[in-house]
Amino acid sequence: MDGGPKAGGARSQFFTRKPLDRLLAEVEGDQRLLRALGPVQLTALGVGAAIGAGIFVATGAAAREVAGPALMLSYLVAAITCVFAALCYAEFAAMVPVAGSAYTYAYATLGELFAWIIGWDLILEYGVSSAAVATGWSAYAQGLLAKAGLAVPAALAESPWRYDTATGGLAPTGSLCNLPAVLVVLAVTAVLVRGIRHSSRFNTVMVAVKVAAVLFVILAGLAYVRAANWHPFAPFGWTGLSFFGHTVAGQVDPGGKPVGMLAGAAIIFFAYIGFDSISTHTEEAKNPQRDVPIGIIASLLVCSVLYIALVAVLTGMVPFDQLDIHAPVSLAFKAQGMGWAESLVGAAGVAGITSVLLVMMLSGPRVFLAMARDGLLPRDVFGTVHPRWRTPWRSTLLVGACVAVMAGLLPVDVLLHLTNIGTLLAFVIVCAAVLIMRRTHPGAHRPFRCPWVPLVPLLGMGSCLLLMFSLPAANWWRLLGWLALGFVVYLAYGRHHSTLRAS
Ligand code: ALA
Repeated sequence: MDGGPKAGGARSQFFTRKPLDRLLAEVEGDQRLLRALGPVQLTALGVGAAIGAGIFVATGAAAREVAGPALMLSYLVAAITCVFAALCYAEFAAMVPVAGSAYTYAYATLGELFAWIIGWDLILEYGVSSAAVATGWSAYAQGLLAKAGLAVPAALAESPWRYDTATGGLAPTGSLCNLPAVLVVLAVTAVLVRGIRHSSRFNTVMVAVKVAAVLFVILAGLAYVRAANWHPFAPFGWTGLSFFGHTVAGQVDPGGKPVGMLAGAAIIFFAYIGFDSISTHTEEAKNPQRDVPIGIIASLLVCSVLYIALVAVLTGMVPFDQLDIHAPVSLAFKAQGMGWAESLVGAAGVAGITSVLLVMMLSGPRVFLAMARDGLLPRDVFGTVHPRWRTPWRSTLLVGACVAVMAGLLPVDVLLHLTNIGTLLAFVIVCAAVLIMRRTHPGAHRPFRCPWVPLVPLLGMGSCLLLMFSLPAANWWRLLGWLALGFVVYLAYGRHHSTLRAS
């Protein structure tokens, strides 16, 4: 693999690629993470990161306000999009088995500037999604507490703002902050600082609980499905596509947000996020070349089947316009008069969402670690691994603090949309990188090969872009603003401290 730094200015540095040999050599030092994860634990990490707020929480608002019963097909569309990206991720994860995921792949193929952009984008994905998940956790936990007669005071129960579908803007809720969301973020941060082996075992138990809960919902709910609830099937239409605020296809709601089956897919895409986080644990895998592709693809398949079945049952049990927005799955059982099932599903929802939070918050510091090793971020904060626990503890604490602030103050819709657009951008870049890598390094060792190249990466890029344009336009501006900030940080710090430049 090529890519030594070339003399002659910033422009050549932007496109400097990191040699694969160097990537592999770097993880042999004493700052190396512990190799503790096998294929089952990796798949569990993927499922643990995926089944959470995207199915337990986002389903309600997405069916009610955006897609209707056609939401089950939205989950299928989002799954297909993820399969294309997953195959590309798997090729890279097997070829470059070090921490950092898409960031590392971009450094090896597209050069330093793209690597920085994607790393910065992944920080957004993992940080903002952790905050979104924490607010979902708070909704389910408050449901359980209320059943036990313990209501959280209104001033501490939710974000100070909520998304207003009528105006498309934010309206005050009267609350000060979402305290349960802040507390769960702080608790998970403490677990993560303590260590990966401990966290992974905790995660495996959680995953078993929530897969059992989803299966329970599907099997127990089946008896209450009435086909009449699936009519009309697509009350908001089949598309929902806009280009920076201008409607290209389908309908919009009164606030100007695209609605329809495709727009539903862009929102619940959140439910699949997580399988990609397996690739950030490659360095902790016992046999990364074999186990990481298995983990990525297996976890995606398990989630797709469970989600589509669960949404079909849910929209069959309750008319879509009566689904609850905060805890739709547990309250669907309340609507059938099954209070015990409501509590059971509510408790499993809390456990399930906790395990998602764990993996999301585990992933962000690992991207930081990879960037700090390259000198693009300060090494003493982001690149130090704890001598005994072998965890990137300082960046874990920093990420925990930022996520706690966002979870306490921002409404869930804003967090969900921003996560999705950031993740979709990362997927586009990973798919593009596979194409570029096949041309520039046709002979590189690829223990797993993405099938039907260039078709699969092209379909991956096309479908991700389609979903990005099904999201409300404000998200594009937020994403571009974040990337612009990242560019400034890169120019001010990373460009001058890059280890590749120094060598
Ligand atoms: N996929 C994760 C969830 O749905 C982020 O909570």
